[in-house]
Amino acid sequence: GVLVLDYGSQYTHLITRRIRQLSVFTLCISGTSSLSFIAEHKPRVVILSGGPHSVHVDGAPSFPDGFIRYAEENGVYVLGICYGMQLIVQKLGGEVAIGKKQEYGKMEISVEEECGLYGPEALCGTQTVWMSHGDEVVKLPEGFTVVARSLQGSVAAIENHSRRFYGLQYHPEVTHSPQGMETLRHFLFDVCGVTANWKMQDRLEEEIKSIKRTVGPDEHVICALSGGVDSAVAATLVHKAIGDRLHCVFVDNGLLRYKERERVMSTFESNLHLPVTCIDATDQFLSKLRGVKDPECKRKIIGREFICIFDDFAQELEKKLGKKPAFLVQGTLYPDVIESCPPPGSGTTHSHTIKSHHNVGGLPKDMKLELIEPLKLFFKDEVRKLGSILNVPESFLKRHPFPGPGLAVRVLGDVTEGNALEILRQVDEIFIQSIKDAGLYDSIWQAFAVFLPVQSVGVQGDQRTHSHVVVLRAITSEDGMTADWYYFDHKFLVDVVRKICNNVRGVNRVCQDITSKPPATVEWE
Ligand code: XMP
Repeated sequence: GVLVLDYGSQYTHLITRRIRQLSVFTLCISGTSSLSFIAEHKPRVVILSGGPHSVHVDGAPSFPDGFIRYAEENGVYVLGICYGMQLIVQKLGGEVAIGKKQEYGKMEISVEEECGLYGPEALCGTQTVWMSHGDEVVKLPEGFTVVARSLQGSVAAIENHSRRFYGLQYHPEVTHSPQGMETLRHFLFDVCGVTANWKMQDRLEEEIKSIKRTVGPDEHVICALSGGVDSAVAATLVHKAIGDRLHCVFVDNGLLRYKERERVMSTFESNLHLPVTCIDATDQFLSKLRGVKDPECKRKIIGREFICIFDDFAQELEKKLGKKPAFLVQGTLYPDVIESCPPPGSGTTHSHTIKSHHNVGGLPKDMKLELIEPLKLFFKDEVRKLGSILNVPESFLKRHPFPGPGLAVRVLGDVTEGNALEILRQVDEIFIQSIKDAGLYDSIWQAFAVFLPVQSVGVQGDQRTHSHVVVLRAITSEDGMTADWYYFDHKFLVDVVRKICNNVRGVNRVCQDITSKPPATVEWE
């Protein structure tokens, strides 16, 4: 397969995904992994990613000593992208300098003919690519040739075909490099002779076999379903492997959206045939949240309460089964387990990129359950594909993400005050339904309403009102880490606002949040 060594570029995951889209198995590991760890994977191709570092700085991350020899002795093909290319040049005796001109954004490059990297004629001549670098290669290592230059004259691609080393100064993995995908395809299949055998159906069957092997014939497994795509697909997969020895729980914490419990439970039961216990813990959660205004406190209370309920569920199950469940299913995805090289100056050497809040809410530490994480090698789009092979309904797979603490982070302040939750549910439902009716749901990454604990003066009918203000937020994003606000047309907004004010009692003013992330976050709390 292909191994990507990560040096911290924002595009590293994209390289891995692009290669998997070509049906080739790819893993991404830290760029400073040991030689034995790299060798364990027996890669045919190693790709060195880009990164924010400069090869000149002391302590700039690099592949381990002996890597070059290992690659040559084992017939491994090595492709460096951006920083990765500069590493190759520097380590093999060439020279990298701080560029006179920095190159950022779209650039034209001119490709020489007759070379390995751009073999077919279609890739020769000029093409547009996405550059993002300050340093540049000024002297090649012996045996290397320049196979493409930017129109400004700097080195855009190099190779040493006989030693199997290649370098691209630009990013073929981003869509702004229109021929990038074809370049990667040609490189992997025609130059490196890799075979395309990473198919979702095969992956699925392998996962099922591996779960059967891990879970003994009379062991039981538990799983908390959040109503989101990942836990639903993970549970469905495990259910396929071990049937009703899987026990799922779905907790209604009183912070769910309009009719969410009914909708989610009906998908689990009618479409997925999952054995799910639904626990109505509305009162338990809301009584603990009463009077609490601080966002962090709210999150902590919700996390703690969830753990208690999950603990009770496991104990009940133990009584019923006469033995403890031994395993716990989690819908962890690949981006959450990759270790990446941190940006310069961040102080850490290896950071684990798990976003702690992206769990259902934490789980009891003393439960001593072994984890089953059937999605830990997959990206989100691959999980959707798996889900669709497993007959998870399309509408469910495409649902917008929803935070674990639910509407508690969307009713600012005390969630139990007045009928804030009920108002928010109605506003949110009208907003989302309007987005669906307008055919916009799939082009928006996440949309929701927020309830503000303030009142404003309005006039409805002939009456002066003093009612609540709600905010609509819709964003586009790749992964939730950064986001842009979504631009609705005038008529859409006029209609939504009219519907909300006419149908939801207690609301007389609607605002739209037009802040990107950063500086704001997606959620308001
Ligand atoms: P923020 O507000 O951090 O949100 O910009 C980024 C993405 O993460 C979601 N989010 C959460 N998801 N538990 C979750 O499972 C949480 O506590 C949580 N907080 C935010 C948010 O909806 C957005 O998609």
